[in-house]
Amino acid sequence: MKAAKNPYFLEDKTMLITGSSRGIGAATARLAKQYGAEVILHGRTESEPLKLLAKELDSKYIFCDAADEKAVKKAVGNLEVEVLVNNAGINPSKTFMDLTGEDWKRIYDVNVFGPVYFSQAVIPRMLERGQGKIINISSAKSHNHVRGKPAYASAKAALNRLTTSMAEEFAPHILVNAVAPGFADTEMVEKTLSPVIRAQIDNIPLKRMASADEMAETVLFLASDKANYITGHVLSVDGGFSIVSG
Ligand SMILES: NC(=O)c1ccc[n+]([C@@H]2O[C@H](COP(=O)([O-])OP(=O)(O)OC[C@H]3O[C@@H](n4cnc5c(N)ncnc54)[C@H](OP(=O)(O)O)[C@@H]3O)[C@@H](O)[C@H]2O)c1
Repeated sequence: MKAAKNPYFLEDKTMLITGSSRGIGAATARLAKQYGAEVILHGRTESEPLKLLAKELDSKYIFCDAADEKAVKKAVGNLEVEVLVNNAGINPSKTFMDLTGEDWKRIYDVNVFGPVYFSQAVIPRMLERGQGKIINISSAKSHNHVRGKPAYASAKAALNRLTTSMAEEFAPHILVNAVAPGFADTEMVEKTLSPVIRAQIDNIPLKRMASADEMAETVLFLASDKANYITGHVLSVDGGFSIVSG
């Protein structure tokens, strides 16, 4: 798909995108920059891909473990963030009996508490300005039961409820929504490709995975003024996966 030159008019927006060293986060950062936004990148560590992307986009970057409350607060500091995209996430594939207590804790720490800590770090200044947007990256696996993902799916379901709770608490000033991807062609999927996942992908009504750019377009729509009457919504971008799963 060829991106339109600037359909979203993001010129006046500063966006912090967590987990933007690669995958959906990096695609969102590239497209946001193309559409005029000021982008602040984030990665877990100061990795080469993060530094290279920052150079490519002439953008600031921060790095910290999203699961470390103090580190998040320090890394965000006094940054002025108009749109926060809580995208950093992990998706280990383990069955219920294989998941250790440490696995459960880590999956919830990164996928649920990460968005909590980043949101807490930017919300005070959003409230001072009287406006802001937060977009949480959930998963289609949060909607219906999908085999083999007890910790990840339940963590993303928690993120959906966090999205609606925050949307109510911070209305009318901060709009809070989520995007629920089905399968997007990133390292995350590549790493977890198993016969079960392969079968799930084959079953998608649109018969393919999304590109990371297709996720980015939806995130940027929600970030833009075109979506100023949408809050508390979890938007599926899954080629129909959630119609046929569960
Ligand atoms: N790809 C899909 O099909 C799919 C489907 C449904 C939902 N999602 C969701 O979409 C989001 C992005 O997925 P993706 O496929 O783009 O993933 P990815 O390619 O694996 O990239 C993950 C990003 O998150 C960062 N990250 C991971 N753990 C972190 C931590 N503890 N602290 C800070 N940053 C951390 C990584 O940074 P480093 O490089 O520094 O580790 C990287 O930038 C995730 O929330 C994922 O659950 C993806």
